[in-house]
Order: sequence, then C-alpha cells, then structure tokens
Amino acid sequence: MLLLALVVMLLQLGRGSCTLPFYNGFYYDHVMNDKANGNGNGNGNVQFNGAKLVVETPDTPIFTLRGANVTLPCHYRYETKLETPRRIRVKWSKLRDDNTKDYDVLVAVGMKHRSFGDFKGRAYLRQEGKQEVSLVVNDLRLQDYGKYRCEVIDGLEDESSIVELELRGIVFPYQPPHGRYKLNFHEAKKVCEEQDAVIASFEQLFKSWEEGLDWCNAGWLQDGTVQYPITLPREPCGGRTLAPGLRSYGMRHKTLHRFDVFCFSSAPKGKVYYLTHPAKLTLEEAKQACQDDGAEIAKVGQLYVAWKLFNLDHCESGWLADGSIRYPIAFPRSNCGPLEPGIRSLGFPKKGKFGVFCYKLS
Ligand SMILES: *[C@@H]1O[C@H](CO)[C@@H](O)[C@H](O)[C@H]1NC(C)=O
Repeated sequence: MLLLALVVMLLQLGRGSCTLPFYNGFYYDHVMNDKANGNGNGNGNVQFNGAKLVVETPDTPIFTLRGANVTLPCHYRYETKLETPRRIRVKWSKLRDDNTKDYDVLVAVGMKHRSFGDFKGRAYLRQEGKQEVSLVVNDLRLQDYGKYRCEVIDGLEDESSIVELELRGIVFPYQPPHGRYKLNFHEAKKVCEEQDAVIASFEQLFKSWEEGLDWCNAGWLQDGTVQYPITLPREPCGGRTLAPGLRSYGMRHKTLHRFDVFCFSSAPKGKVYYLTHPAKLTLEEAKQACQDDGAEIAKVGQLYVAWKLFNLDHCESGWLADGSIRYPIAFPRSNCGPLEPGIRSLGFPKKGKFGVFCYKLS
C-alpha cells in the first residue's frame, strides 16, 4: 500500500516537473530547450518573459451532421500586454482514438495555410475576430468526428487546447449475410463502409446505450475493443446480476477474432423511400427498379438514418443493397412488429419476392 502511494507520488512529481510536450515535429529548437529547462508547467500555459499565451476552445462538444460545414472555435490571447506583437503559427491536428500520433489537419502562417490528407481543400482557418484561429471544415464526413487540437506557436511559446466534434446520427449493429460472429476487425470496418457508415466509437455506442440500445451480440468498435449494450440485464447477455451498461470483451485480436460490428451513420445527402411498384421483386429486379426510378437500392445505414432522423415509417418489408429484407417503423402499431420503434429485420432470404427501398440523391 505504502509502496503504491510512493509510486503514485513519484509519477505525479514526474508529471509536474519534467513534462515533455507532445512532439509533433513543429517546435522551434529553443522552445524545446526552454521547456526542458523547466519553464513549462504542462498545464496548457507557460510563463515566459512575463507574457503568457493562452489558447481557448469550447469545453462542450460541437454537434453537427454529415455534409455540414462546421467551425471549430479557437482563440488565443496574452495574459499580459505584449510590447511587440509576435508572429504566430497555427497548427490544427486530429487526435486518434488509440492515442497514437495525431493527424495533421492544417498549418497556417500569416495568410498562408496548408491542409493535409483527407482535409485537403476542405479545411480553412477562420480569422475574423481578433486573435481568432478557428478551423472551418466543409462537407463533413463520417470519419471527421473526434477530438481536434488547436495549437498556437509564437516562436517563444507554444500552447494548445482541444475541442470535440460530434456528429448526430445513429449506431446500428450489423451482421453479414453469412451469419453471426463472422467478421474480424478489418472486415468489420469494411462492411460498415459498404452500408454508408463507419465503425462506431466507444462514445457513440455509449450514447446509443443511454438512449436505450439493447443488443445481445458483441460487436467491434473503432478502438479495437468488442462490446455490447445492455439496458435490461438478462441471463444470456452477461447475466441478471450485472448492472445495465456496456459489456466489454476488451481488446481482441484484429485478424484472428471474429464478431459482429457496430456501425455509425449520420445524415445522408439523399432521401430513402419505399418504391411504389406494381409487383413484388427479386433482389436483382429490385436493384433495376430503383435504377429505373433514377435512384439506387438503399443501404442499411441509409435506412437507419432515414428512420432515426426523418421518422421514415413503412409497414411493408423491402430489399436493401446487402440482400437483407427490412422495414422501418417510427410509429409502432399492430401488425407492424414489436411495440418499440425500430428497424425490423427479416434476415437475408435466399429467394422470394419483396418490395424495395431506394435511395435518391436530392
Ligand atoms: C459549405 O461551404 C461551401 C463553400 O463555401 C458551399 O459551397 C456549400 O454550399 C456549404 N455547404 C453547406 C451545407 O452549407
């Protein structure tokens, strides 16, 4: 016990006195040296020559939808007035789920900026207000959710602050046509993308659990863990004695272990509808019928989003692109499945004729 306390103390001492800043290849040498000499306190601000640079972002997440243009606010200021203004650089980066090296999003010096990778041509700096260095990202993609670091470097000081971007949307469990627990991590990511979705994060699954998601099959998450959400504890799902919550199998082997997956999707660009058609169709006929209507057959993620965000409600089952048969019920009533709203799934029939849900870009 005493030993443990000592170790904890040592760790804390270590943290206070010789914190190295996270390194991103963007420091000036003398800044590194100053920090190593003990000017850094590691708490997001540094005393230097009397002036103190402070970088501020909102504490609460920014919520928006896929396809939107978003501004991630960030401002900086000096706690004491500067005698001569300093030229600053700004660097925005995105944190990874697994805490490995950040992604570069954008760097800016003066009026020049450069965006990187996936953000090329979509990310800009907004400097309308005084000492504003907000990040604008256009046409948000599903992968854009997460934590962003706003970093201001003025040659003498280097400070940063984090802001979180969340997308409104829906988490849904996915099982492929060939059955339960068939996907390794890499395949899991791929099947979500095929449903116009991405593999869900822990936070997204947790939020869905808070909203009532209950699912007794374990699925992969973005961070490489395998979990499932339970709101009504019961025997086959972790037992009656465990409190409601996310049941976790922990980190699993990404190629050897196989489970289902939780996917996440947000507002689609287009619209999902049940095709009015004189006859029931096979899967091939259904795909063709959507095309004839100037659309394409809808994907599972698109149906979930239409149900969740736009209350799509249709009490006849129809084909989806993956060969499953489902229908969305926003307003439960008799002869339309269970008493709760939801996407009813009739599996992957090998044969038979049904209606179809199409997806049309608007
Ligand atoms: C986002 O910004 C671009 C470029 O300014 C604009 O063309 C587009 O219409 C905007 N999109 C939305 C959803 O506001």
